[in-house]
Amino acid sequence: MQFQTCFPSVESPFGIVIFGASGDLTSRKLIPALCQLYTSNILRRDFFILGVARTKMSDDEFRSRFKCDGEFLKRCYYTSVVYDDPSSYSSLIEKLDFLEKRHRTNRNRIFYLAVPPEVYPHTVENLGRLGLNREEHNFSRIVVEKPFGRDLSSALELEKTLQRYFSESQIYRIDHYLGKETVQNVLIFRFGNFIFEEIWNNKFIDHVQITIAEDIGVEHRAGYFESVGLLRDLFQNHMLQMLSIVAMEPPSLMDAESFRTERVKLLKSIRPLSVKDLKSVVVRGQYSSGTVNGKVVRAYREEPGVASDSNVETFVAMKLFIDNWRWSNVPFYLRAGKRLAKRLAEIAVFFKNIPHSVFPNIPAGAIEPNAIVFTLQPDESIVLKFNVKRPCPTIFLEQLDMRFKYEDYFGVKLPDAYERLLLDVILGDSSLFVRKDDMEVSWQLLDPVLKEWQEKPKLYEPHLYPAGSWGPKEADDLIERDGRKWRKP
Ligand code: BG6
Repeated sequence: MQFQTCFPSVESPFGIVIFGASGDLTSRKLIPALCQLYTSNILRRDFFILGVARTKMSDDEFRSRFKCDGEFLKRCYYTSVVYDDPSSYSSLIEKLDFLEKRHRTNRNRIFYLAVPPEVYPHTVENLGRLGLNREEHNFSRIVVEKPFGRDLSSALELEKTLQRYFSESQIYRIDHYLGKETVQNVLIFRFGNFIFEEIWNNKFIDHVQITIAEDIGVEHRAGYFESVGLLRDLFQNHMLQMLSIVAMEPPSLMDAESFRTERVKLLKSIRPLSVKDLKSVVVRGQYSSGTVNGKVVRAYREEPGVASDSNVETFVAMKLFIDNWRWSNVPFYLRAGKRLAKRLAEIAVFFKNIPHSVFPNIPAGAIEPNAIVFTLQPDESIVLKFNVKRPCPTIFLEQLDMRFKYEDYFGVKLPDAYERLLLDVILGDSSLFVRKDDMEVSWQLLDPVLKEWQEKPKLYEPHLYPAGSWGPKEADDLIERDGRKWRKP
């Protein structure tokens, strides 16, 4: 169709400087994503990638860390800096200058901060001091990885440094969930179809469940996780973004500002969590030892790098309400955790029970309500659950699934979220990135919870759950008190 294209082409040459280039994110996500964009022939103009980190390494040593196309690797370079030593940036400047001439990138620059947050201020200050933030006939963009601070005030502090040198339109705060095809498809499902949006409200919908379940534990990130915990790691960003996508109003146009304004409007309508009855609406859990995928695994407190008396949460479940016309009185149940029964990210929208049963001996309440389940990963799919008659001489209702599975239909593996997001930074489209007010609202919602937990650790000791389960019993109580049940697919 002439109105649509699947592959935008990059028209401007550019250079990406990745700070934290010796780290995990660079080798696991950033370089593979850029390489994929290159081999898919989307990066049609010249470009280079300059890795920067503390470790000393040659260009060839840097290249040898990745399994990528040889032509692509020729465009990868490396230089080291000591982040908080301004004098060490001179070699970076020299190399940048050399590469910009060699690849004729017109000083179009992207700075990617894949470094721990405590390093952000030094890096940003130095970029600003060296004038690398300036845009004249070129662009200069900065990409910031989460965590954006550890509460509202530290996030604002970080913002102050960023905004001293970069304007909002130059800043790209990444929440990689927004880059997932399946998350964006919730928007297409809602706003590209007439039949669903009409029933997307409290007249038809009973409740919504949002889940990010991981079967992995903290892996090698215990140090990070011990200082962060699951609420900050998954709720402040991914969970609330998923909620905003499924519940937001349609923007008048899907451009960066209108789209983000609607998302923020939705987040602002979430009813603040009342500290008074926090225990009944937020459940904190931590995994003990157990069996995951047939393997015996240790408790969180026994993981290397975790304190033996740690009370950091690895699971959170919560109930939220959105105080607006569309969602009044519809509970949103959210849960996320490490070392759960399986890896699964999904949004399940449950419709109301039928108002009256016409079937003798089958009460309305005994007929399974309809549901639409967006499985974001793995087995990416959309399922509509509805009732049919089982072939037999009586009236026997059975619920079945009408399923659209991405892989079966399109026959392709879905691209990694970083591919889409890096491409958007290169193209200058910030729709799928977190705006400053977006980030502030989510911290405002969670700050009172974090404060309460911190001030009364004994009262909010996490409930233990066996690794490989669906979380603590208290999380079941949270939803079952309302006469509902978590999906445990
Ligand atoms: C990251 C969190 O943002 O998201 C991790 O820091 C988590 O703890 C990861 O494992 C989950 O991402 P995905 O795309 O694998 O669901």
